[in-house]
Amino acid sequence: MPGHNHYSPFLARIYDKVLHFPILTIRNSIVKTIINGGAKSVIDMCCGTGNQITYLRKAGIKGVMGIDISDNMLHQAWRNGLKDVCVKMDASDTTFQGNSFDVAIMSFSLHEMLAETAQKVFLESKRIVKPGGLLILVDYSFDKHTRPLGRFSARALEKFVGGDHYRNFKFFMANNLLSKFAEGLELKEQKRFLIGAVGMWVFIAD
Ligand SMILES: C[S@@+](CC[C@H](N)C(=O)[O-])C[C@H]1O[C@@H](n2cnc3c(N)ncnc32)[C@H](O)[C@@H]1O
Repeated sequence: MPGHNHYSPFLARIYDKVLHFPILTIRNSIVKTIINGGAKSVIDMCCGTGNQITYLRKAGIKGVMGIDISDNMLHQAWRNGLKDVCVKMDASDTTFQGNSFDVAIMSFSLHEMLAETAQKVFLESKRIVKPGGLLILVDYSFDKHTRPLGRFSARALEKFVGGDHYRNFKFFMANNLLSKFAEGLELKEQKRFLIGAVGMWVFIAD
């Protein structure tokens, strides 16, 4: 399986606590977008600890499931009460039928993968979301809206995680992979967060 297990048990345990305040607004923005879109079925590709799913369920969105490749992140999701909701699966090659979901979320995940794997995850999301459904992407984006402190903090965080993860992040940023993957898709909504270092893009699946 590509993607491997980059996340130690320690990282998996501290993940939600460390990121809680910085990404609270992003989690809530995703919830709002999904409620406004009236979605009934949502897949969180690379759900990690299931933190976004917890927010969605608290908001009353029940038809949500998550997949992830990392045992340690999944075990944390299960400790977070998501045993029946988060399952082990490679997001670049899922077992779902086409057009199974109204929404796919890819948050803070594509940047850490090999470019080829990230592209497969994006294409897989397009395949399993119904035409007219939503592809919600949240990831780093550096441009004129990004403050130097935003770039610095994002790089420092990725370096801390290290290894392939950091190499892939640098390639992802240098080659602006997000916009390449999304070429040709209709953009429904766009927002920036964290002093311009993170973006949220909502595309309409075709
Ligand atoms: C930084 S975490 C983000 C987790 C979550 N989406 C969030 O917003 O908190 C990235 C996740 O992507 C997962 N991942 C990486 N490659 C994957 C793959 N091929 N299939 C499924 N999950 C993958 C990792 O295991 C990790 O849990």
